[in-house]
Amino acid sequence: MNVSFIGKPLTRVDGGAKVTGAARYAADFNQPGQLYAVIVSATVGLGRVTEIASTEVERMPGVVALITYRNAQKLPYLPHKGVIDPAVGERLHVLQDDQVHFYGQPVAIVVADNLDHAERAAAALRITYVAKRPLVDHADRIIERIAPKSSDGSRGDADVAVTQAPVMIDETYEIARENHNPMEPHATIAAWSGDRLTLWSKSQYLVNEQAEIAAVFGLPVENVEVICPFIGGAFGTSLRTWPHVTLAALAARQTGRTVKLVLTRKQMFFTTGHRPRTLQRIALGATPNGKLTGVIHEGTGETSRYEQFTEALTAATAYLYSCPNVRTQYRLAQLDTSTPNHMRGPGEASGIFALESAMDELSYKLGIDPIELRRRNEPRRDEAENKPFSSRSLMQCYEFGSERFGWARRTPEPRSMRDGRLLIGLGAATATYPAYHAPASARVRLLADGLAEVEAAASDMGPGTYTSMTQVAAEFLGLPPEQVRFSLGQSAYPQTPSHGGSWTMASVGSAIRAACVEAQAQAASRVVADSGSPVFEGSVDDLEWSEGRLRRRGDASPGMSYRDIIARTGTPVEAEGSAQRDPEVAERYSMHSFGAVFAEVAIDPDVGTIRVRRIVGAYGIGRVVNPLLARSQCTGGMIGGIGMALMERTVLDPRDGRPVNAHMADYLMPVNLDIPKLEALFVDEVDPHVNPLGVKGLGEIALVGTAPAIANAVFHATGKRVRSLPIHIEDVL
Ligand code: MOS
Repeated sequence: MNVSFIGKPLTRVDGGAKVTGAARYAADFNQPGQLYAVIVSATVGLGRVTEIASTEVERMPGVVALITYRNAQKLPYLPHKGVIDPAVGERLHVLQDDQVHFYGQPVAIVVADNLDHAERAAAALRITYVAKRPLVDHADRIIERIAPKSSDGSRGDADVAVTQAPVMIDETYEIARENHNPMEPHATIAAWSGDRLTLWSKSQYLVNEQAEIAAVFGLPVENVEVICPFIGGAFGTSLRTWPHVTLAALAARQTGRTVKLVLTRKQMFFTTGHRPRTLQRIALGATPNGKLTGVIHEGTGETSRYEQFTEALTAATAYLYSCPNVRTQYRLAQLDTSTPNHMRGPGEASGIFALESAMDELSYKLGIDPIELRRRNEPRRDEAENKPFSSRSLMQCYEFGSERFGWARRTPEPRSMRDGRLLIGLGAATATYPAYHAPASARVRLLADGLAEVEAAASDMGPGTYTSMTQVAAEFLGLPPEQVRFSLGQSAYPQTPSHGGSWTMASVGSAIRAACVEAQAQAASRVVADSGSPVFEGSVDDLEWSEGRLRRRGDASPGMSYRDIIARTGTPVEAEGSAQRDPEVAERYSMHSFGAVFAEVAIDPDVGTIRVRRIVGAYGIGRVVNPLLARSQCTGGMIGGIGMALMERTVLDPRDGRPVNAHMADYLMPVNLDIPKLEALFVDEVDPHVNPLGVKGLGEIALVGTAPAIANAVFHATGKRVRSLPIHIEDVL
């Protein structure tokens, strides 16, 4: 193959549709005669509904139905656990009884002829509760902690090693609860036709939404269709199927009409997942020359009463550095809240904040440059799994990044760098994330006009799946990208895993490659079976594809294009392909991405304002399919990291668990003025083991490392170690 589209900075194939408004998001799929539903959310944190003043509301203008547990259809809620759902526990059953498990739980749904009528009626509905005080603060000692399955790991004796170490630190770190807050709210339009259901619904995992709703309503999976061609941001919040999807479908079924349901910004804080608050302890022991002798990482996340949500909070600590004695422990505090879920670099982003803050603290205690400290503890192999890394470019990332960032100009002493009256701080931190690869499939159709249609039930929440998959198909078919039409966002397309975990390119990309190879094989066998073709009765093995043309190996003739081949028979070639990681290779290697993140902050010593001035991230992510998109993903992740470090925090009222800042005015997120110059660099990394494309995946790792780099820069600027995110002005004064 002598053309190459992989690695090229192709601009977004869907860019025009997005900027002209032609791209349709879930709530844009308005259907004729649809009704509008509004959820009424519980205003107590724990208890039960005792009275519902339904009559007045039912008589209000335009109201078609008021559905509560009293008149809601009983739903079968058949078992279904997708890989994205917590392994332990049972999903929330909405409107099936009078119980309130957390503040904001849906307790009623109003359906009306227009949104205004539905909102007015929902606001007028009076519900009386018997309420108890919920437990929502996981630092509270009376809260029960549970040990999720296989949550602990250990090698050597870390406790002894840390206690006996010549140099040690032992600190606790905290990260606040955060909510995703993408620009596009969750939305579902549900339309029944007999016992078939169509959902236009915001989803990062269409085939799971299809299976989940089928299970909830007791339908065959093929009776449910989910459509979602565009997503206005998500990064975890649309991985699972939340109760509003069930409610939209239920309301549509009970009214016999199509129903549209869009969550309010406030409701986006109730039942659509969140980053769990975490409390972590890191203890490090080291020799005076900076060799780690012991590492302890104990972390507690939080979950709901009805499900055990787990994330990889402590996992990376086991493999990140060389150390003979390591112990990790993960616990969950069960709270009266809704179930958390994956959010922007879940697990690793939180866990690495603690570990990389601690490593920075250790570097000052030892008087060793923070990057040099990482170098002295760089492992030759994954010491937790006791196997080699498929590739690991952490030190190259540090070298590349520190040169670009200008680390050399940093003076080690805290408070030693200034710009006028501002304190300047430079900090660094390691990033890592597993290189996952899940089974996926795709379909390729070669059409008579020379176009190739490629389909997979994938999503594109912003990283550029439309574009990058077009490149992959173009590459393996040998066609220019303009001749490839990639479609996603339909559950009827070949199955893919969730659009998350940074595995879309590895998984769906490999499936597309397989489908392209299969399509070419079918086209070739058609040609050798064709009595009019120059290679009739030849062997397929004697043929080769080059730039989308088939010819005899070594033959200088122009060969046959797909169009030529299809024209001879008149029927398009259609092929499916699927791919998954070779289990033997998976067994043999430890596969992760690595990166080094650098941050510069400027802090006003009088008023404590913290400004990030610059971030440089250098990443080893295997092959980069599209450097423009990759850079965009990384800068987006860095912005999330700035939010995590300095702004984002959901505050719960301890009396009832109400998120008190459930709106964009008080839930702070970075805006343009908060964003400095961001640079993403990629080291040349060839990884022959991860998958045929050589990609490790990108997305989550961009979140990891940014917050600790900023926190470490804040310490360098001020001499104040802040171990609790987000860092506030008061923390540095
Ligand atoms: Mo990602 S948090 O798996 O969308």
